[in-house]
Amino acid sequence: MNANNKRTIGIIGAGAIGKAFARQVTKAGYEVMISNSRGPETLKEFVKSLDGNIKEGSVQDSANADIIFLALPWQRIEQVASAINSWKGKIVIDPANPILPGFVLANLDGKTSSEVVEGWIKGAHLVKAFNTLTPQLLSANPKQAGGNRVIFYSGNESSSKEIVGGIIDKIGFAGIDLGSLNEGGKLQQFPGGPLPTLNLLKLD
Ligand SMILES: NC(=O)c1ccc[n+]([C@@H]2O[C@H](COP(=O)([O-])OP(=O)(O)OC[C@H]3O[C@@H](n4cnc5c(N)ncnc54)[C@H](OP(=O)(O)O)[C@@H]3O)[C@@H](O)[C@H]2O)c1
Repeated sequence: MNANNKRTIGIIGAGAIGKAFARQVTKAGYEVMISNSRGPETLKEFVKSLDGNIKEGSVQDSANADIIFLALPWQRIEQVASAINSWKGKIVIDPANPILPGFVLANLDGKTSSEVVEGWIKGAHLVKAFNTLTPQLLSANPKQAGGNRVIFYSGNESSSKEIVGGIIDKIGFAGIDLGSLNEGGKLQQFPGGPLPTLNLLKLD
C-alpha cells in the first residue's frame, strides 16, 4: 500500500485490455504502474495521455503493486509469472482467455483457465474479472441508460474478491460475484461459458 494507505495497482500487459483497464482505474484516482514486453520507453506517450497517477515501469515494478492486473496473451502468462520475485500476499486480477495464436484452445486439463493461472502465481489470490467485454466497452463510460455496465467476477478467497469488487464499483461498473473459480469461472470463461460477450446493464 502507498503512503496514503491506498492499494496500488500494477498492470502487466499494455495491449487492448491492459490499456482499457488503465484508463478506468487512472480516471478513478488509483496509483497505477503499467508495463509491457518492450519496456517503459514505449509506454511514455500513453501514460502522458491519461493525466493521472499512472507511471510506466518494468514488469517487476508492476508486480510490486498490491493488486496486479495480468493482461497477457495466454501463451505468455506462465513465463512472465515465473520471472516475478514473489507473488506472496498479492491479489491478481485475471482477464485472460485461454486462446493460443490461430484461435486454438489451450489444454486446461479439465480445470478452468483461472485455476490454471492460479497455479502459476503461488501465494497470490486470484480473482477472475474483465474477460467478458471487448476493450471498446471496457474503455467506455460504464454508466449507460440509467444503469451500470456489468462486470462478472469469481474467485476462491472472499477478502480479495471484496477488494476487486470495490475496484469494479469505484470505476463505475456493476460487479456481479459468480462464486468460486470452479463454478463462476466456468460461467464467465471464453469460449464455452454462457456469459462472455454479453453487454449487460444493472439498472438502478
Ligand atoms: N482483446 C479482447 O477482446 C479481450 C477481451 C477480454 C479478455 N482478453 C484477454 O486479455 C488478455 C490480453 O489481451 P489483449 O487483447 O489486451 O492482448 P494484446 O493487445 O496482444 O496485448 C498483450 C500485451 O501483453 C504484453 N506482453 C506480451 N508478452 C509479454 C511479456 N513477456 N512481458 C510483458 N508483457 C508482455 C504485450 O507487450 P507489448 O505491447 O510490448 O507487445 C502487450 O502489451 C488475453 O489473455 C486475452 O485473452 C482480451
